[in-house]
Amino acid sequence: MSYKIISAEEAASHINHGDNIGFSGFTAAGSPKAVSEALAKRAIAAHEKGEPFQVGVFTGASTSDHLDGALARAGAMKFRTPYQSNKDSRAALNRHEVHYYDYHLSQLAQDIRYGFLGDVDVAVIEACDVTEDGEITLTSGVGNTPTYARLAKKIIIELNSYHPKALKGLHDIYEPADPPCRREIPIYTPSDRIGTATVKVDPKKIVGIVETNCSDGVAPFTPLDETTMKIGKNVADFLAKEMKEGRIPSTFLPIQSGVGNIANAVLGCLGENKDIPPFEMYTEVIQDSVVGLMKEGRCKFASGCSLTLSDGAMKELYDDIEFFKDKVVLRPQELSNNPEMVRRMGLITINTAIEADIFGNINSTHIMGKKMMNGIGGSGDFTRNAYISIYTTPSTAKNGCISAFVPMVSHTDHSEHSVKIIISEYGVADLRGKSPIQRAEEIIENVVHPDYRPLLREYLSKTKDAHTPICLESALSFHQAFEAEGDMRKAKI
Ligand code: COA
Repeated sequence: MSYKIISAEEAASHINHGDNIGFSGFTAAGSPKAVSEALAKRAIAAHEKGEPFQVGVFTGASTSDHLDGALARAGAMKFRTPYQSNKDSRAALNRHEVHYYDYHLSQLAQDIRYGFLGDVDVAVIEACDVTEDGEITLTSGVGNTPTYARLAKKIIIELNSYHPKALKGLHDIYEPADPPCRREIPIYTPSDRIGTATVKVDPKKIVGIVETNCSDGVAPFTPLDETTMKIGKNVADFLAKEMKEGRIPSTFLPIQSGVGNIANAVLGCLGENKDIPPFEMYTEVIQDSVVGLMKEGRCKFASGCSLTLSDGAMKELYDDIEFFKDKVVLRPQELSNNPEMVRRMGLITINTAIEADIFGNINSTHIMGKKMMNGIGGSGDFTRNAYISIYTTPSTAKNGCISAFVPMVSHTDHSEHSVKIIISEYGVADLRGKSPIQRAEEIIENVVHPDYRPLLREYLSKTKDAHTPICLESALSFHQAFEAEGDMRKAKI
């Protein structure tokens, strides 16, 4: 291969203060690991000499500690978008040390192409293979890589031998044209392939290759607790009933499932419920449970943006890559999360809320309305366009001192107009076709923790002659009680 093999430190020396960098991958999957660490060290060295060194950071979604953690601790980020979930970057952005634009994941690539967010100076791309003529085979995550690679002036490749070259053929790389030339995206079922297997770049832009051998380091899931299991079962039972009553076709519909333990449990429960036929997924993150469901024949196909798998699950998949190759496709997030696809294919979307209010508005992002947790991620892409949009949440947090159901959300990510179903360990609130007062009664009686039902009933009774009966004096009383006394049960309605 005629590309120059360089160290991570040499690669970092190609990046200048003020540059905007597009990193490959989606979650820890496919995110670069070595160059970001070296870049952090470079920033620390510059800061020690009293010199400024900060870069703008575009990614697919969250990354790993090698990227978000290292750059945040080094004070090396001037801005960050579209999503993060690292404790150090979270702390830095809440302190305003990093300016964070929390972006709908499907939308970032096009908005960068439209010129809304500045140039992409450098793309850092994790690959399992690259050819002389610039064909890059990505690893476990795609993210926005096709756009970053095309727009970047320079490209640095991290060639990660942990991922087999046999991954070629797993990816479906496609960039829609920009308006006014865009046509429909010709994906009609989750398994349709419309693009190329590799990201093609001008090889002259590749300034060097950094060799690595490093897993994505995704943590395995914690054992399921009773609450999580009950939520998973409630979701599966609800969907089986919807099918039985003819509101979901008997062939079933593609599933999108969010991230984390609850999502993993929900998928496990869908797999176990034999009233639900083997299903397909059109989702962003493919998690551990999907590997088992495919082996059992319960999940027939998964289209996603990343294989966000623990090392054990990744080994299972790589050991049997030929079995999985015709059952999995990885696409850019512009397609995995595309509203056109979500609406056309009729996705059943299942995401987790931080809190919901009794009228059906959802907060996915801000703790007590002000501190950023992770970001909106793909939840908005899916919720607004779903066939059935479902939100799951345990009814309480922090040993019962926080109710997930409040009089008014402290921050709104998804409005009452988009949210159809809310599910907790207590049951299902079906908001379809209901007015605000009916939705409030449905939520209070079916999903709220019993400790909080009297308070919410009292709140609802306070305002008369109002379509949406909020009470301005006590709308945030639950949050105020938590901040003042550490317990929402002490709210003064
Ligand atoms: N108020 C304050 N804190 C709350 C809370 C509330 N209403 N609800 C939960 N918390 C706390 C929990 O106690 C926990 O705290 P800890 O870290 O100190 O233990 C923390 O918030 C996370 O809660 P947890 O129940 O573990 O959350 P999770 O891992 O299931 O994630 C979201 C929930 C909403 C943060 C996560 O799903 C997310 O980031 N969503 C937005 C993006 C998204 O939906 N992506 C998928 C789209 S495809």
